[in-house]
Amino acid sequence: MAMLSLCRILSTAAYHPGLAALSARASSVWSHVEMGPPDPILGVTEAFKRDNNPKKMNLGVGAYRDDNGKPYVLNTVRKAEAQIAARKMDKEYLPIAGLPEFNKASAELALGANSEVIKSGRYITVQSISGTGSLRIGASFLQRFYKNSREIYLPKPSWGNHTPIFRDAGMEVKSYCYYDPKNCGFDAAGALEDISKIPEQAVILFHACAHNPTGVDPKTEQWKELAAAVKKRNLLPFFDMAYQGFASGDADRDAWAVRYFLDQGINIILSQSYAKNMGLYGERVGGFTVICSDPDEAKRVESQLKILIRPMYSNPPINGARIATAIMNTPELRKEWLEEVKGMANRIISMREQLVSNLKKEGSIHNWQHVTDQIGMFCFSGLKPEQVERLTKEFSIYMTKDGRISMAGVSSGNVEYLAHAMHQVSK
Ligand SMILES: Cc1ncc(COP(=O)(O)O)c(C=O)c1O
Repeated sequence: MAMLSLCRILSTAAYHPGLAALSARASSVWSHVEMGPPDPILGVTEAFKRDNNPKKMNLGVGAYRDDNGKPYVLNTVRKAEAQIAARKMDKEYLPIAGLPEFNKASAELALGANSEVIKSGRYITVQSISGTGSLRIGASFLQRFYKNSREIYLPKPSWGNHTPIFRDAGMEVKSYCYYDPKNCGFDAAGALEDISKIPEQAVILFHACAHNPTGVDPKTEQWKELAAAVKKRNLLPFFDMAYQGFASGDADRDAWAVRYFLDQGINIILSQSYAKNMGLYGERVGGFTVICSDPDEAKRVESQLKILIRPMYSNPPINGARIATAIMNTPELRKEWLEEVKGMANRIISMREQLVSNLKKEGSIHNWQHVTDQIGMFCFSGLKPEQVERLTKEFSIYMTKDGRISMAGVSSGNVEYLAHAMHQVSK
């Protein structure tokens, strides 16, 4: 009977394309798949593209723009690319763990070339598919080998992708207090209080610098307190370092917290990305590092990381890693690169200052000090969702509903307009 009616539908469908589509949908093995929500940040970009206002601003994207609002390719990247092209190298597969010279240079950039950890060889760094891939390898490694806890505690709020990365890898995602909306700054007391209650040996995630989305980083003294609290609860810190150099303009300074934890004898795990600090967004270059107790342990961890990576993507892409390695390992390029990173960081810092001074010029009586206190690509403006909505509707200024401004989208050409609009919706 069922067969008969299916035949009838199919024969009718031959004459009615609409019916054919319906029956195909009903019989599809994917018919239960529901439409998922769009990515909130990509949604902002889509709405921005549709807007015809010549003054429109996209403050949603997390990629650096120059003062003309254009994507920026570093000079040192162009030079490294030319060097690589001139060498006419092959395009064979990399090893599972990536380019060995890259892994070494990357660990040294993060930990410092004179680090005891580097000198004693008690670490393993593998090349990853940028920061996201590194976090995902880390999450899977924890899931498979960290027997002491299933839980990872994220700062509240954290980068939107952290939760799905760890959850999809089978970790249980929890949070600790981080941001204080009252002063748009770090809630040190709240964080310490929450950390003191985290079950012993759980994993805790820190943004090494330039916290996304808040732009709020702990001060040196506060990092020391956090390290002491972590030690007391015997937690395993996972540092996500997606912006080394990009926050302060100084790659060593931005790695201070990571190095301090190591100096305190805390064996961290670390994720690195070269998307922002080298502008290698689409090249997908990153590193994942596990600090071990000795070189022998590091070898064993390496063997298991390879076993994890092999069925995921076999081996990482070669081009970006070559570029990053050429920059880090060629003294003149490295020097010039560090200047370029400083240039990007300084442009952003200067936009923060100009935004505040223009808000004052507009006559705003609010305290905007957090705009200059915060650091890195993002500013958690403190604007409420209704105010963000007005910015979009009345001024064609696009950002995520949480009031996060990507400072990279602000330039000397539009900072006055932004200040004017922010004042209009917040006065
Ligand atoms: C905190 C944080 N971690 C990791 C990443 C990963 O970025 P990517 O995968 O592009 O390196 C980002 C990017 O925005 C980020 O903000």
